[in-house]
Amino acid sequence: MEITLVLIKPGGVSRSLIGEITKRIEARDLKVVGLKLMNAPRATVEEHYAEHKERPFFASVCDYLTSGPVVAIAVSGVNATKAIRAMMGATNPLDAAPGTVRGDLALTIDDNLTHSSSDPEAAARELALWFPEGTV
Ligand code: PPS
Repeated sequence: MEITLVLIKPGGVSRSLIGEITKRIEARDLKVVGLKLMNAPRATVEEHYAEHKERPFFASVCDYLTSGPVVAIAVSGVNATKAIRAMMGATNPLDAAPGTVRGDLALTIDDNLTHSSSDPEAAARELALWFPEGTV
């Protein structure tokens, strides 16, 4: 059993895709063990993307994540991290397969709707950041 992190980014919230994305997660028989709508503090977002600090898009991705509310979801299940990454699709929606969240619902990399942890170690780090109170 693993717990992993999904963020529905501001574009997904403003397009009213919280239900659609959460429905897909639950339909896969993964369990929601933490869920909150929040205005993410800039410091949280910068720490979240810290490994990309030197990349040219760091400021814009941080601007985007703080441009409106996000939904943080902790998801539990067998191989949850790998299952969620596959469900969300390739980072660039143009490369994302039909049937994935990005392949079905997104068009551009700067508005790719969701973040999901890349591996179990990243998930543990990110869950501590977004759910410091722990999960249910
Ligand atoms: S990944 O999935 O982490 O391996 O992808 P990576 O290419 O390393 O990108 C890391 C995160 O940066 C975002 N990103 C961008 N945002 C805006 N513009 C551009 N050009 C861009 N390139 C990468 C990408 O969406 C990843 O964030 P998340 O939140 O995981 O989607």
